[in-house]
Amino acid sequence: MIPYLFGHFGNPSSSHALGREAKADVDRARGQVASLVGCSPSEIVFTSGGSESDNMAIKGVAFRKLNRKRRIVTSVIEHLAVLMPCRYLESMGFDVRYVSVDRQGTVDMEALEREINEDTLLVTIMHANNETGTLQPLHEISAICQKQGALLHTDASQSVGKVPVSVEALGVDLLTIAGHKLYAPKGIGALYIRDGIELEPLIHGAGHEGGRRAGTENVLLDVALGAACALAEKHLQDANDSLTRYFLHELGARFRDQIILNGHPEKRLPNTLNVSFLGHDSHDLLSKLSNVAASTGSACHSGQTTISPVLSAMGVSEQAGRGAIRFSLGRYTTQDEIDEVLQSLGCIIGDQNKGGEGI
Ligand SMILES: Cc1ncc(COP(=O)(O)O)c(C=O)c1O
Repeated sequence: MIPYLFGHFGNPSSSHALGREAKADVDRARGQVASLVGCSPSEIVFTSGGSESDNMAIKGVAFRKLNRKRRIVTSVIEHLAVLMPCRYLESMGFDVRYVSVDRQGTVDMEALEREINEDTLLVTIMHANNETGTLQPLHEISAICQKQGALLHTDASQSVGKVPVSVEALGVDLLTIAGHKLYAPKGIGALYIRDGIELEPLIHGAGHEGGRRAGTENVLLDVALGAACALAEKHLQDANDSLTRYFLHELGARFRDQIILNGHPEKRLPNTLNVSFLGHDSHDLLSKLSNVAASTGSACHSGQTTISPVLSAMGVSEQAGRGAIRFSLGRYTTQDEIDEVLQSLGCIIGDQNKGGEGI
């Protein structure tokens, strides 16, 4: 980004040399994003992040001209960036169906198949859940959508850059990318729109982004997302979940039956670990783990604790939900850091069960 903070100030829409240079930079970035998800550059629209991409996909499909279908099918564990536009469309008369999930956070495929019918214009199911890391069987969902002539959108904010994501292999028509989940800055994202699909734009104006999103391009952030995608593609080969597995194993070994894994044991992101410390309050634990940046699986309002809707939809008990912590490992997390967390947890919880078999 640094060269674009101090120079390269051309407007990509200008035809002079500076403008052409800026356009070439944005084109290169678009190609880098496209390469990471296996599509052509013309199928990528830059947005301000995951929320905008989700809104653009869902409302863009719902509002497109000559649309007669009224049904949208989604799941109960989607991010609010999907659930809120769905609720908004519901308030406008669309028929929105929310499919449940099982104990591991996988969508109920039978229920999904029942809900997708000829009147379904869009199915929107996330690729990986932000709280548990559970991956959804999008390829199978795509087959059902194709049978009924429904479009398939996936919010892949959490998976792009962490596991291989190919729009062809997943069989999706629209795919959300959020830059800050893969080491790009906050405030930049992208939407993959399969060639031939027309969406009603959220932002009407001049013909930027192929007429799909008006507004002078944010060259600085576009270039940053492109570079982050190129790096993510390079690092995907060496990405593995051995450190996360080590962490989970050690948690199990040290805390045994005080620990529950929330999420699918296999079909999951390599970096996201949601565990419940039974009999403990996650807010209390995290306040004591003061050098660790992790999230809880519950919210505290006016002295009342409510467990996250995602964990609740998975059937996690109130007690387990109150003790849930989501640890996210990064590209640069080290084993020493994991050992430090384990040691701190040991001091807080009491390391009575050390030396067990693990989970
Ligand atoms: C699954 C998922 N979708 C959408 C978003 C929203 O992305 P952004 O904050 O870039 O708008 C997030 C961010 O946390 C997310 O985890």
